[in-house]
Amino acid sequence: MRVAMIGCGYVGLVSGACFADFGHQVTCVDKDAGKIARLRAGEIPIFEPDLDRLVTANAREGRLDFSTELPGPVAQAEAVFIAVGTPSRRGDGHADLSYVLTAAREIAAAVSGFTVIVTKSTVPVGTGDEVERIMTETRPDADVAVVSNPEFLREGAAIQDFKHPDRIVVGTADERAKKVMADLYRPLYLNQAPILYTSRRTAELIKYAANAFLATKITFINEIADLCEKVGGDVQQVARGIGLDNRIGGKFLHAGPGFGGSCFPKDTIALIKTAQDAEAPLRIVETVAAVNDARKRGMARKVAAALGGSLRGKTIAVLGLTFKPNTDDMREAPSIPLITALTDMGARVRAYDPVGMPQARRVLSDIEYADGPYACAEGADALVIVTEWEQFRALDLERIKAVMKQAVLVDLRNVYRTEDVDGFSYHSIGRPDRG
Ligand SMILES: NC(=O)c1ccc[n+]([C@@H]2O[C@H](COP(=O)([O-])OP(=O)(O)OC[C@H]3O[C@@H](n4cnc5c(N)ncnc54)[C@H](O)[C@@H]3O)[C@@H](O)[C@H]2O)c1
Repeated sequence: MRVAMIGCGYVGLVSGACFADFGHQVTCVDKDAGKIARLRAGEIPIFEPDLDRLVTANAREGRLDFSTELPGPVAQAEAVFIAVGTPSRRGDGHADLSYVLTAAREIAAAVSGFTVIVTKSTVPVGTGDEVERIMTETRPDADVAVVSNPEFLREGAAIQDFKHPDRIVVGTADERAKKVMADLYRPLYLNQAPILYTSRRTAELIKYAANAFLATKITFINEIADLCEKVGGDVQQVARGIGLDNRIGGKFLHAGPGFGGSCFPKDTIALIKTAQDAEAPLRIVETVAAVNDARKRGMARKVAAALGGSLRGKTIAVLGLTFKPNTDDMREAPSIPLITALTDMGARVRAYDPVGMPQARRVLSDIEYADGPYACAEGADALVIVTEWEQFRALDLERIKAVMKQAVLVDLRNVYRTEDVDGFSYHSIGRPDRG
């Protein structure tokens, strides 16, 4: 089947490459000419494990190509995916739909023959209706069906998630569109991935409800961690103790510095706004967003407390900048408010991240960057682990201790066990301090 993927970001590029790998003929389109030039030269503009191999192999076999021109690929496609960004709108937090609606207008002008327009971007309920309105207004002659097919992949494990989804959600009442979607995803449901057909509005809501629920789970365990610190308990054991209950499940119960990333922060806020407009406020999600927001900056106070209260003149080494491991994505990373707060409190910050430093330099320009964890720790008063990259799990702690000014370790991801950090003053999340 011929597919046009509009938007070559984390979702568009991964989805496009995976559909090509299933055997479809895919053109990925992006307005960013630099991105397309790099992709055509065989360079991957983002860091995502295994994506380079998948893109190169499918491009070489002629199933995947890249273009800045939307009309040609759209005219030829039986399915056109909208995978452009939906960031928070400045000022009010609603989802900014300008990229989606612009893409819809461009697609409307170019479609030819029966075409399924699939919204993969995360969009508020009712956006599919708006895309359909644009189609019928711009091209009353066009034969199209507008479908919602939200994406649930996680950065850092995007290909695995796309190819082994827990479910595929398809929101449409159009039988021809259902058949096209089933053909597109056939390799996956041959693999037993359930396809859930719903109304378009329901599909749009499923995506936001899923993200809001996961964000709630994280925030819940973060607050339990705070309670553990006050009353004496170990949040990891609490998480295990509740997570073994099948009704709860152990995932998304890792206490930490608060959720960040390209999805949870903006999607929770957008859902809150939708619900307020609909006069069905989501009080739980409102609280989750507020608690999480305060938590990220609050982590700086934890660092200060580990150093006796004041950070003025202190050097803080930060390990990990991206919002999670195995991505270079810095969007809403907890490291940003944390580092800003550390510098506001008078500290000098030196940071290291295995892949995120080029992106980080754009948002955190006033700090020093090191070229490895040991260089980062040199002369520091405290070492703070912010992102749990694999390489930070087995640091040579003796070597770290030897180069630091004070052996203070603040582990915001509970990477180490208290018994592993001999000789350090050790502070983690929701567990007893040591030293
Ligand atoms: N990143 C994730 O992990 C993830 C997971 C699930 C869902 N989503 C959702 O998927 C959508 C895309 O997210 P992303 O992280 O891939 O975004 P992104 O910002 O990485 O990429 C979006 C791309 O779209 C391009 N673009 C914008 N308008 C265009 C147009 N009219 N024509 C062609 N290209 C255009 C931009 O240049 C950019 O390259 C968002 O709605 C997001 O919420 C993201």
